[in-house]
Amino acid sequence: MSAPSSPHSSHAAAQPLSIRASGPLRGEVAVPGDKSISHRSLMLSALAVGTSQISGLLEGEDVIATAAAVRAMGAQAERLGPGEWRVSGVGVGGLLQPTQALDMGNSGTSTRLLMGLVASHPITATFVGDASLSGRPMGRVIAPLSDMGADITPAPGGRLPLTVRGLYPAVPIRYTLPVASAQVKSAILLAGLNTPGTTTVIEPVPTRDHSERMLAGFGAQLTVEPTPEGRVIMLTGEAELKPQTIVVPGDPSSAAFFAVAATIVPGSDITILNVGLNPTRSGLFAALRAMGADIEEVSPRTVGGEPVADLRVRHARLTACDPDPAAAPSMIDEFPVLFVAAALAKGTSRIAGIEEMRVKESDRIATMAAGLTAIGVSVEELPDGLVVHGRDGEPFAGGGPIATRLDHRIAMSFAVAGLHASAPVEIDDAAPIATSFPNFLPLLRTVGAAC
Ligand code: S3P
Repeated sequence: MSAPSSPHSSHAAAQPLSIRASGPLRGEVAVPGDKSISHRSLMLSALAVGTSQISGLLEGEDVIATAAAVRAMGAQAERLGPGEWRVSGVGVGGLLQPTQALDMGNSGTSTRLLMGLVASHPITATFVGDASLSGRPMGRVIAPLSDMGADITPAPGGRLPLTVRGLYPAVPIRYTLPVASAQVKSAILLAGLNTPGTTTVIEPVPTRDHSERMLAGFGAQLTVEPTPEGRVIMLTGEAELKPQTIVVPGDPSSAAFFAVAATIVPGSDITILNVGLNPTRSGLFAALRAMGADIEEVSPRTVGGEPVADLRVRHARLTACDPDPAAAPSMIDEFPVLFVAAALAKGTSRIAGIEEMRVKESDRIATMAAGLTAIGVSVEELPDGLVVHGRDGEPFAGGGPIATRLDHRIAMSFAVAGLHASAPVEIDDAAPIATSFPNFLPLLRTVGAAC
């Protein structure tokens, strides 16, 4: 079967979207595979000796960019059916030099993790991306990968397009993360795979641990120790990875939109199937519950080494939130939709300590502040967050068009807001939703949304 459409470094035509209130949401939805786990399963399979099987792979544009890149560096990645992939790896140390620039589309995860892979192989690769990705800081990975010996030439400001000239053998480092970033941690660990000796990453604030779990699953020697300076992760290099059969659980970051939608629309009762609930990812559900949301975990189980459950979510009245900044990494991609929930809560939410929001696919503090204001919400922007004056259940006024700035999560957050608005919410461009959740709108319709 042929792969779904590839990403593109200049974005396709904008797809305006109008979404309006449509009554209670009801039924069951199965969200697609976890994006973070999907990227990692392709990359580690590409480095294993032998053939891995992946099921439940997210086939969004970001993950397809990773598949194209590992192919360009010698792995065979074949789509057998929806979410079913077979990947034959080249072995750690065996990546080939790509003959063309690697097009990362909108995907920061593809870019930063693949930069790590290239950094310790004797190859050179150029990374390009769309306007959003080309504005994002890469200095955070350039610094440690340069310490390991890679020669990296970015565009001014440490941005894409950039070229990585890998070094073999690279130099193992001991690196304390200056920003809480799973992408930076993972880039260093992936570079460490082909580096002699022990590569050590210390994270003062824990971030998603899918790389550690999956590296161990593929047979890498890796230890993780909690210490007073943080989690210390040590990886023994020149690893031999053994092929695996991987089942990717549903993405909690995609489930988040349905959880907030069911919570804010009166009368709703939906069940979201197969949601990954790794504690480094599930912060939004805890935050919503603290606000009064009714989220029930049904049939907890383990899928692909990750905790999973179905989530039954019923409408509930919310009170304002004041999330602990230490919990931010566990809900890092969910703040846009949390702002939507906070905007309908009773009371004022002060959500601070999230300056990282400014360097995501868009500046999510500014983009959300502008969009929420456009649909009638009173907000105040902070340098590191947002104050949201809740409407105590009063529907949004509607309006727009909301500028989504090539940011899938902004588009989906305002689609959710439109479900409880007295006039339609207009969104300038829904096309970026395909980067992480291609069937978002069809799924939203199956539970009763008008879009
Ligand atoms: C990701 C890490 C997070 C997250 C991103 C996916 C990953 O980014 O926002 O969507 O898969 O490692 P940061 O590492 O920049 O926090």
